[in-house]
Amino acid sequence: MPDIELRNIRKEFNDGKIIALNDIDLKINDGDFAFLLGPSGCGKTTMLRTISGLIQPTVGSVFIDGNDVTERPPQERGIAFVFQDFNIFPLSVFENATYALKVQGYTQEYIIQEGERVLNIVGLADRADEVPVGWGNGDLQRLGLARAICSGAKILIMDEPLGSLDPKISAEFRWELRNIIKDQGLTAIQVTHNQEEAMAIGDYIIIMRDGNILQQDTAKVLYRYPNSLFVGNFLGGINILEGYIRKVHPEDYYDVKVRLGGPTFVIHSPTTKFHLDENVIIALRSEDVYLFPLEYDYENSRADWTGIVLSEGMVTEKFLTGKEKRYIVELDNGDSLSVAKPEVFQYEFLCNQEIKIGLFNEDLRLFKYPDNLAKEMDLQ
Ligand SMILES: Nc1ncnc2c1ncn2[C@@H]1O[C@H](COP(=O)(O)OP(=O)(O)OP(=O)(O)O)[C@@H](O)[C@H]1O
Ligand SMILES: [Mg+2]
Repeated sequence: MPDIELRNIRKEFNDGKIIALNDIDLKINDGDFAFLLGPSGCGKTTMLRTISGLIQPTVGSVFIDGNDVTERPPQERGIAFVFQDFNIFPLSVFENATYALKVQGYTQEYIIQEGERVLNIVGLADRADEVPVGWGNGDLQRLGLARAICSGAKILIMDEPLGSLDPKISAEFRWELRNIIKDQGLTAIQVTHNQEEAMAIGDYIIIMRDGNILQQDTAKVLYRYPNSLFVGNFLGGINILEGYIRKVHPEDYYDVKVRLGGPTFVIHSPTTKFHLDENVIIALRSEDVYLFPLEYDYENSRADWTGIVLSEGMVTEKFLTGKEKRYIVELDNGDSLSVAKPEVFQYEFLCNQEIKIGLFNEDLRLFKYPDNLAKEMDLQ
């Protein structure tokens, strides 16, 4: 079965001046639908081209189905590639879709049977005779997919396929795409800049930066437990607070004091160890910040606020984004947090209004203080 494995893959360009892939190890199991995300220039396309054999790695090996295919040409790897700007031939949809079968010398009878089957799968059966000139991105993506399935390949690689650039098409087509991939038993990797699409339909996401894989996990794990500030910030954005370790408790719990007289939190960090007085960054999502009017009655509330850590604060900015109410609030030590609340959030706070800001220890993540904080948080 077509699983994909990269072992110690390095790809250099310009005599080693550019390291596009920096000693990558990666495993994608048979039948997985993986998404590849990362800033422009981080090596996504280079990785896909290396897997499909369009380029050769400088060092390392590519395995497909357990076989070393590093030296094999693309056509022997059983991979179909949907590019961003794939070529449409000035032929009918049917001929475009079945092109690979014709080239491979199949009988006309087989080509008709297979073409009808595949155009049905992608929802283009009733447009088989059209010439797809002037077609929109979503329809072209269907055609690209038809062509890929017709080729008989069991691995599908999509580098920013056209539809993913258009949020509306992507939203309409995404579940269909996932169903097709799963029904056909394909192993698929897709590059996209549309994080929402990746989080919605991918089995998991691989986050890359500067030629390295930073994290490979389900969307849920990536969002709740990013393994670096960069991953947390890249995927959905984070607030950060600077602080230091004031006490080390057993079982990986730490008392963390926010700088300049900010609040103290008790944060669990099972994966990274810290020592007393170490400078750290606390990261949290904007939807995990709770805001209360000063007179709020915590005892008689329907919600359970046990364990919440409250600080004094003030609203400094507010704006409505349509789906959400967003606030910028300031803790009394001067640090700011961005806050997102659903539109139905019951309170209307005003700018300069004094409030209480609440955070739960469980929602906070602890990171080593990076050598260069600005660079770590830079999404480019
Ligand atoms: N043929 C090439 N010759 C020289 N440098 C290259 C070549 N192909 C890619 N690079 C460089 O390798 C790095 C990775 O490029 P790649 O195209 O893989 O990035 P990407 O993640 O796909 O970016 P984007 O999101 O913009 O498509 C970049 O610095 C790029 O300039
Ligand atoms: Mg690219």
